[in-house]
Amino acid sequence: MRAVVVALGKMGLPLATYIARAGHEVVGCDVDAATVERVNAGRSPFPGEAGLDDALAAAVADGRLSASTDTTAAVAAGPDLVVAVAPLYVDERAEPDWSIVDDVCVAIGRGLRAGTTVSLETTVPVGTTRQRVAPALEAASGLSAGTDFDVVFSPERVSSGVVFRDLDTYPKLVGGLDAAGERRGVELYERFIAAEVRAMGSAEAAELTKLAETTYRDLNIAYANELARYADTLGVDVEAVIAAANSQPYSHVHRPGVAVGGHCIPVYPHFLLGGDPAARLPRVAREVNGAMPAYAVDLLEHELGSLDGLAILILGVAYRGGVKELAFSGAAALRDELRARGARPLAADPLYSPSELRAAGYEPWDGEAAVAGAIVQTDHDSYRSLRPGDVGGATVVVDGRGVLDLDAFHAGGVRVQRIGRPGTMRS
Ligand SMILES: NC(=O)c1ccc[n+]([C@@H]2O[C@H](COP(=O)([O-])OP(=O)(O)OC[C@H]3O[C@@H](n4cnc5c(N)ncnc54)[C@H](O)[C@@H]3O)[C@@H](O)[C@H]2O)c1
Repeated sequence: MRAVVVALGKMGLPLATYIARAGHEVVGCDVDAATVERVNAGRSPFPGEAGLDDALAAAVADGRLSASTDTTAAVAAGPDLVVAVAPLYVDERAEPDWSIVDDVCVAIGRGLRAGTTVSLETTVPVGTTRQRVAPALEAASGLSAGTDFDVVFSPERVSSGVVFRDLDTYPKLVGGLDAAGERRGVELYERFIAAEVRAMGSAEAAELTKLAETTYRDLNIAYANELARYADTLGVDVEAVIAAANSQPYSHVHRPGVAVGGHCIPVYPHFLLGGDPAARLPRVAREVNGAMPAYAVDLLEHELGSLDGLAILILGVAYRGGVKELAFSGAAALRDELRARGARPLAADPLYSPSELRAAGYEPWDGEAAVAGAIVQTDHDSYRSLRPGDVGGATVVVDGRGVLDLDAFHAGGVRVQRIGRPGTMRS
């Protein structure tokens, strides 16, 4: 099989490499010339993806994988499959900015030949494949979808860092515009995906499945957060409650936390609501989770009194541990909430330099300046070994991710409050 993968980001490059590793000929396309140059040199442009460096170097060395900035030319060579996994960015209110997806459709459409199947993997609102992508490909190619070429939707369901493992494990969902196109899409994916490839019956069913599984997580976390707030008033340890509730097979309550960040979980419920404005649960879950940073500040204020004029340290600006990504990070909401209460928020993160923190709108903490309190926003591994002397003399730390070594902090006389663990506050 010959394949083209458009957009060599954290999803696209591992996917292109995975297809090549299965023995197929792959051209990866990206608008970023530096990315293309690195890939052609057999080197990944980003770190931290398990198995990628070796597999990429091997695939490039034996000629199965190459990269190009010219998507139209790569598609014009007539591959069996074109996979588009460009990002769909959203604004602060999660409204999609279609410019990249539209550009990618034009670039693919201009090169499209009869017989090729185009698969969209980018997470999108339901209806996008049929109502936006297929018409754009038809307009740019002069060909007819379903007759000359096929279009399917196959959501990217993997997590960055473990893409190969997830592609090997999770069923690959494929939904088409019609039965024949879907069958062809399934057959192409079966040539390289180790896991089950599942026909979904329509592009819309595949699109909705991706929104269903991600929105489920937002709803579930919102429920855990509500339990945590209630547990705080009861003096009950919510983590023990959740572990116990989940000890029978019908309960799968997630963990509470200071924020739900990233470009997926806080965003996709809005895609669902955009299609079904009458839905209530996703809206309420967004409200509950969106209120958690302010709740963490409440916990701090409860211990310290007024925060007016106090320096408060935010530990971690990345939206989750080990990932250098700021999209919808809870750190921004914490910073704004602290400022609104008159505090002076400072920020530190092992993945960001002081100038990167400043560029992202944070006042960097120099590692020395005294602070009154701190809030752990990110579950970075290194925070597990933080000691009381590492937090600027803070007397209270709200551990928004449950990562601190409580015994060490208590022994050092620093009070730690976890969300939903009222007993942790003893000094
Ligand atoms: N990152 C994740 O954990 C994750 C998980 C599941 C699904 N997804 C899906 O994958 C999509 C892509 O995410 P990502 O993390 O790979 O993004 P990324 O930010 O890592 O990479 C995006 C790439 O797209 C390239 N690009 C931009 N415009 C382009 C164009 N017109 N033509 C070709 N390339 C272009 C950029 O240069 C960059 O290399 C997301 O929008 C989402 O739908 C991501």
